[in-house]
Amino acid sequence: MTSPAAAADPVDPTDPAAVEAAAAAAAAAIAAASDLAELAQVHRDHAGDKSPLALANRAIGGLQPAAKAAAGRAVGAARARVSAALADRDAVLKAERDAAVLVSERIDVTLPTDRYPVGGRHPIPAIIDRVSDVFIAMGWAVAEGPEVEAEWLNFDALNFPPDHPAREMQDTLYVGETIVGGRDGADGAPSGRDGADGAPSGRDGGLVLRTHTSPVQIRTMLTQRPPIYVICPGRVYRDDALDATHTPVFHQVEGLAVDKGLTMAHLKGTLDHLARAMFGPDSRTRLRPSYFPFTEPSAEMDVYFPDKKGGAGWVEWGGCGMVDPNVLVACGLDPAEYSGFAFGIGVERTLQFRNSVPDMRDMIEGDVRFTAAFATEV
Ligand code: PHE
Repeated sequence: MTSPAAAADPVDPTDPAAVEAAAAAAAAAIAAASDLAELAQVHRDHAGDKSPLALANRAIGGLQPAAKAAAGRAVGAARARVSAALADRDAVLKAERDAAVLVSERIDVTLPTDRYPVGGRHPIPAIIDRVSDVFIAMGWAVAEGPEVEAEWLNFDALNFPPDHPAREMQDTLYVGETIVGGRDGADGAPSGRDGADGAPSGRDGGLVLRTHTSPVQIRTMLTQRPPIYVICPGRVYRDDALDATHTPVFHQVEGLAVDKGLTMAHLKGTLDHLARAMFGPDSRTRLRPSYFPFTEPSAEMDVYFPDKKGGAGWVEWGGCGMVDPNVLVACGLDPAEYSGFAFGIGVERTLQFRNSVPDMRDMIEGDVRFTAAFATEV
């Protein structure tokens, strides 16, 4: 749509009709330019150095003085009109271009974007929440205790005799022996036992990293009166080397119920309910006779669950039993009036069975590829 090259067609500056015709040709070309590129070409053809009117302007210099003024006025006016028309058309075409760009480069800010991966919540706290919800739904409360625990609460009050092998052989990590209760004077002799925990003897006032969540049972019974229905999820420590099935830091969920007339049937029903909630409606538990100092009778608890491949089997899930009368007495409860049951399950083991995680190291390494797989649901 550009005008034909105009340089070949000289315009006589003293011929008003020729000047007018050049200006009219320019105006027509300007009006016909449909975009800025075409207009740039029109600009070169009709207002550039070699355009007819520019050449005519230059020719004025060679005219007779008497003719110069009229020719100058005519050519100048024509060139001014062409410049003005170019500027007007330029403004119109730029506005059209801008309007078109607004449409063609439109961005819908409501469309989803590529998000940065946000990782996932670790499945251990997620499983703990799930177990907790099962009990909260039954009206139980959640209790907590410290991870650095009085040895008396971790062992003595739970009826572990002073020389019980668990104190040394169950890989207990000792923190110190004198912080709670303190030592008397410079001779370093143990102080008499009169601390808040009321430990009778033994490692006076010693502190351990708790080896199980059972001391929270004692803390609860020392501060609450029955009926007591609590679960105590938490981190526990044992001096184990890390491998596929052991970790020195792991998690348990403890359960404790103390009320009038509780029997092992209540314990079994509670465990079966938990098993079904965690492993599906076909799951159940079985108890094998065992020994814990703080329960009598005591049992190892196995859980049966169908796995995703259609198989099924029994695996050891935790320990349980009826609260030993000695423990009730140590907490100021009358065993003739109250009975209780308690259980403890391993959280890492639950995750291993339930979500097919064979290697415990995956749970502690913090690799986001592991946690992201559990990001929404455990
Ligand atoms: N505390 C025991 C352990 O860590 C488990 C347990 C809890 C047993 C409650 C009986 C009752 O092995």
